Amino acid sequence: MKTKIINSVLVVSFFALLFYGCSTYKEITSKSGAQLWGENCVRCHNAPSPSAFSDTEWETIAQHMRVRANLNSTQVNKIVDFLKMAN
Ligand code: HEC
Repeated sequence: MKTKIINSVLVVSFFALLFYGCSTYKEITSKSGAQLWGENCVRCHNAPSPSAFSDTEWETIAQHMRVRANLNSTQVNKIVDFLKMAN
């Protein structure tokens, strides 16, 4: 009886985590580069203007700030594409 309850709790938790995990993933992947830039690059300093650096400089800066901002590669690529397009 006790094992059955524990198993049900585990199954419910598994699906809850599965759906929660997927909704968070969708939320991240559906955001545009401009949105991600506006939300993340202002957390520690003023968001630098896209025109402040060249395309090559943005690529290097993004690798540096990716670590600081704890972003994944999809997010960073979107931000870099936005910065290159807007500069
Ligand atoms: C967790 C804090 C934090 C976040 C988030 C952050 N930065 Fe920074 N940024 C810093 C710090 C600190 C520096 C000063 C240089 C250093 O010590 O790394 C810096 C420096 C910079 C510089 C100066 C050039 C350089 O590479 O040092 C630029 C440009 C920059 N950030 C752009 C960005 C962009 C674009 C984002 C968004 C993807 C971002 N930052 C997100 C902390 C952050």
